[in-house]
Amino acid sequence: MGKKVTKAIIPAAGLGTRFLPATKAMPKEMLPILNKPTIQYIVEEAVESGIEDIIIVTGKGKRAIEDHFDNNFELEDNLFKKEKYELLEEVRASSKVEIHYIRQKEAKGLGHAIWCARKFIGNEPFAVLLGDDIVQSKKPCLRQLIEQYDQSQASIIGVQQVPEEETHRYGIIDPSSKIGKRYRVKSFVEKPKKGTAPSSLAILGRYILTPEIFPFLGQHNIGKGGEIQLTDAIQQLNGIQNVFAYEFEGRRYDVGEMLGFIRTTMEFALENQKYGPEVEIMMTELLSNRKIMSYES
Ligand code: G1P
Repeated sequence: MGKKVTKAIIPAAGLGTRFLPATKAMPKEMLPILNKPTIQYIVEEAVESGIEDIIIVTGKGKRAIEDHFDNNFELEDNLFKKEKYELLEEVRASSKVEIHYIRQKEAKGLGHAIWCARKFIGNEPFAVLLGDDIVQSKKPCLRQLIEQYDQSQASIIGVQQVPEEETHRYGIIDPSSKIGKRYRVKSFVEKPKKGTAPSSLAILGRYILTPEIFPFLGQHNIGKGGEIQLTDAIQQLNGIQNVFAYEFEGRRYDVGEMLGFIRTTMEFALENQKYGPEVEIMMTELLSNRKIMSYES
């Protein structure tokens, strides 16, 4: 029996410049979709996938994340006394997992953030979940990848098709062969220039990696955007052992940019059991009011 995947890294050291001024004093990972910070959706996916230890790589001004996943006795006591048990459960849910924190002292890119967590990982396979991608699926996305890992003991990267005109925003794979939803990969390219992508299969923020990736990350090679790129180290790893890609099932939401964030908020609101029906009426009203206003002007 090979080693199990029990540890996950969630990098959360980014500056969140796309959401300024909201992110001036608040980490972007704490921006909520409805009443839940985006990072909590990510942590929940990890826990539902069987992850036992999570390490969040943070940077300056990220203390609110630690507070969020900590116990808050005053708040819990207050909710208990007011008999608000449902809310109490919600609040407690965010402090049930074992979460560890380390700081990335310089913003040198995603590859560097992962490298910062090497001592915590040791010589074990591990997962990486990026906070900009929320995935909703029957079987948690990470669980799907872990099951694949268990079969082959090889690194496996979650991918999905994206529109061709968007390939320059992602890590893209050049697949060689496919069995079911699993690809052998010739190469991994970080953000290929427009019109040069080898496929439309994009890396979407979920990875299972073997610890042999760390020496490559440790070379600190500078890649796209002047940063140490995880994709580049994966490409090197693929040179010494197979790294597969897996087309996971599920709907992926891009909460790392403004329009994706707005769309996710609207979709989650529409799908919400409690508020959905009213939100739908609200949206229809807003749209028809806009029509009326444009006729008037
Ligand atoms: C990162 C990765 C990229 C991946 C993307 C998914 O890029 O470097 O390979 O496709 O996340 O969201 P970022 O969006 O952080 O620039």
